[in-house]
Amino acid sequence: MKPADFRADVFYTASADETAGLGKMLAGTLKAGSVVALSGGLGAGKTIFAKGMAKGLGIEEEVTSPTYTIVSTYEGRHILNHIDAYRVPDERDFYETGGRDIIGEKGISVIEWPEHIRSALPSSTLWVVITILDDGRRRIQIESPEHGRIQASE
Ligand SMILES: Nc1ncnc2c1ncn2[C@@H]1O[C@H](COP(=O)(O)OP(=O)(O)OP(=O)(O)O)[C@@H](O)[C@H]1O
Ligand SMILES: [Mg+2]
Repeated sequence: MKPADFRADVFYTASADETAGLGKMLAGTLKAGSVVALSGGLGAGKTIFAKGMAKGLGIEEEVTSPTYTIVSTYEGRHILNHIDAYRVPDERDFYETGGRDIIGEKGISVIEWPEHIRSALPSSTLWVVITILDDGRRRIQIESPEHGRIQASE
């Protein structure tokens, strides 16, 4: 994928490496406080995308899915907070456990299952919506706030 393609809103990836590459390129455009919501069903490629973002931020530590810990924090060119809201029971729980406090702070935050904590997300959130196509490729739509926020399905 050529960087010039990056201006488009929709991408198609044929492998996990290509999806990670897109995450890596996106990370290069982010600044401190950026919040990225990764929307998509089970196995869509959210964690693969987050791993690519980590690579783009110069993080060498292996990024694994923080399903049980909810938040993992890594240090690179920016701090990266990788949040997996899959097991967050409700938004109030996320606020009470301090999860909301780290979003939009000095680090970059990337969130899997963002629909579970929708009200905790700032309006500036960048939405990345991953869909598995019939042929196995992924359709990845990147929606910036200037274009209006995506109403991703639950
Ligand atoms: N084009 C593609 N992009 C991303 N992953 C792909 C692609 N094609 C195949 N895969 C495979 O799909 C799987 C995606 O797994 P991943 O853990 O990233 O999904 P996820 O969305 O984080 O799932 P979960 O909801 O369980 O957290 C990997 O096994 C990966 O190798
Ligand atoms: Mg995952």
